[in-house]
Amino acid sequence: MDLKLDGKLVFISGSTKGIGRAIAEVVLQEGARVIINGRSDTATVASEMSGPGEVIAIEGDLARPEEAERICTEIDSHGELDVLVNNMGIFNPHPFADISDDEWRYFFDVNVLSSVRLCRHFFPKMLERDFGRIINISSEAGMRGLESMVHYSVSKGAQIVLGRGLANLTKGSGADITVNSVLPGPTMTAGVSNWLAESAQVQGKTEAQFVREFFKETEPDSLLQRFIEPEEIASVVAFIASPRSSAINGASIKAEGGLIKSIV
Ligand SMILES: NC(=O)c1ccc[n+]([C@@H]2O[C@H](COP(=O)([O-])OP(=O)(O)OC[C@H]3O[C@@H](n4cnc5c(N)ncnc54)[C@H](OP(=O)(O)O)[C@@H]3O)[C@@H](O)[C@H]2O)c1
Repeated sequence: MDLKLDGKLVFISGSTKGIGRAIAEVVLQEGARVIINGRSDTATVASEMSGPGEVIAIEGDLARPEEAERICTEIDSHGELDVLVNNMGIFNPHPFADISDDEWRYFFDVNVLSSVRLCRHFFPKMLERDFGRIINISSEAGMRGLESMVHYSVSKGAQIVLGRGLANLTKGSGADITVNSVLPGPTMTAGVSNWLAESAQVQGKTEAQFVREFFKETEPDSLLQRFIEPEEIASVVAFIASPRSSAINGASIKAEGGLIKSIV
């Protein structure tokens, strides 16, 4: 199926690594003009990517308001944005009682306000030109409230509600604008892979054994019983970014390997 992303301008926050980079690679193969972003290495990563589309690098920290403003202006200089993917995010297990106000604020700056700032700039422009796709890369944690990372879970829940609130604002506009959240489950990014290798070594287990036991003990409800590959999330996002997905709006799309037992 042609996703009709050829020539579309797509910005993906935090796309030098992990899920964001996988999304960039997929939409690039679909012929999109992809703007990648991170706080470092954007030019190097851009030079490593190739495909029928175009890669543009915009470096900067979206958790800082003045940098977010500069990044929005730079994106505008490349044309009208068709697809905004709010991907960048941080997570870190921390006992609830030890999480300071500063850490809560930092999680909100990085995981929530970075998305808010980009949406505030681009959503009205999308409404004016009657087309746009906004996709928040949230997490299953935003629906489950993980006890090991309550601050992360709250920030990811906020992202889902941000998406639904903006989708509600498209009502009756007649425009082909959708705002959705994608909720990945445990995904094998470099950070997760390093953690897995170290943990397996410390416990004197093979990585395969560690993964089997991790899912059996920590995520027994996962239907996959394995980590998701970033590319598996990227293909879901590519479809939601496509003009073909116009009937999906305000949704929380689970791509978590079935570990949330609810049917919606
Ligand atoms: N991996 C998982 O298991 C998993 C599961 C569910 C949901 N998610 C969500 O998926 C998203 C991506 O996660 P990931 O695991 O792929 O992350 P990752 O591998 O750690 O990559 C994060 C990316 O964001 C960039 N970044 C970090 N802080 C930034 C900032 N302040 N400004 C601009 N860029 C920034 C990083 O580059 P620099 O460090 O150079 O800035 C990097 O490109 C996150 O929102 C996460 O919550 C991940």
